[in-house]
Amino acid sequence: MSPLHILISFFLPTFFLLSCSSIPIVLSKTTIQSQCLDDQRSALVQLQQDLYFSPHFTFSSKVELWDLKTDYCSWNGVTCDALGHVIGLDLNYKTLSGTFQSIFDLHHLQRLNFAGNNFNTTLFPYRFEGLPNLTHLNLSDSCFHGQIPMAISHLTRLVSLDLSNQDYCYRRNDVDYYPTLKVEKPNFNSLIKNLMFLKELYLDSVSISTQGTKWCEIISSSLPNLHVLSMSSCGLTGPLCSSFSTLHFLSKLNLDNNPISYLPPNFLGISSRLVSLSLRNCNLCGHFPTEVFLLPKMPKH
Ligand SMILES: *[C@@H]1O[C@H](CO)[C@@H](O)[C@H](O)[C@H]1NC(C)=O
Ligand SMILES: *[C@@H]1O[C@H](CO)[C@@H](O)[C@H](O)[C@H]1NC(C)=O
Ligand SMILES: *[C@@H]1O[C@H](CO)[C@@H](O)[C@H](O)[C@H]1NC(C)=O
Repeated sequence: MSPLHILISFFLPTFFLLSCSSIPIVLSKTTIQSQCLDDQRSALVQLQQDLYFSPHFTFSSKVELWDLKTDYCSWNGVTCDALGHVIGLDLNYKTLSGTFQSIFDLHHLQRLNFAGNNFNTTLFPYRFEGLPNLTHLNLSDSCFHGQIPMAISHLTRLVSLDLSNQDYCYRRNDVDYYPTLKVEKPNFNSLIKNLMFLKELYLDSVSISTQGTKWCEIISSSLPNLHVLSMSSCGLTGPLCSSFSTLHFLSKLNLDNNPISYLPPNFLGISSRLVSLSLRNCNLCGHFPTEVFLLPKMPKH
């Protein structure tokens, strides 16, 4: 081998690596990796093109969240793993609207936070099932409306799901009359029955059609790891079911503004692990177990 040849074969792989080339020449394992990381980058670049600033739902300007000349793993709100796969995307409270289809090409994504934007759209166009490793999904307060699609029910690794308070978003934008986010078809059971790792579920202000004690029986039997349940203003009727006592980790429960009327006879057993309990405006009648206030874990106010 001539010295020049050695020099070329030494530099070639490095050259292809740095240029992030899509030339279909397989030089080394590292080169293949950098080519597929190009997909991660282009999904983010596409996302930036598809979003726009939208204060009060009016187009204001294209977004320039990121300096495209820099490494995408250093971009604001982007988290990568050691190999350069995007595993976290946090764009909360940026007044964004537009579409975010391209994030469904980020198959390694584990945490997604789009809370507090101005999307004013349904969730139907989005292929959530394309993100099988998602553990944290936060779409609260972003003006999403309409039925929660079945695609969400395929996110079986979810630990935290927050779809709450879409009404805050509309009110933030001075819109008084707005469509709600709702669970009808698929129904509540179909939506959550496979989400057995959930620790936190926030569905405040989501309209849930399941009536009677069914909603709480579904939660008790499907979500054994639940720590936090927040479902204020969901239109839930009661009474609260006694099977809540099987939720051994439940520590925070908020059911404000639902006409649940009655507490189950074993309510004291349920509440003994709670550190936070809120049952405002629940039309409660009958005897309230005042012993709740003596429970060791309840903060005294
Ligand atoms: C999803 O997670 C599993 C287990 O942690 C891992 O083996 C797999 O490669 C991940 N898939 C993606 C697309 O990140
Ligand atoms: C929000 O979306 C709804 C349903 O598509 C539409 O009727 C309404 O005009 C939108 N609101 C604004 C302020 O753009
Ligand atoms: C969702 O994101 C908002 C804004 O970052 C935050 O306030 C809220 O606590 C998050 N929800 C969960 C369950 O972490």
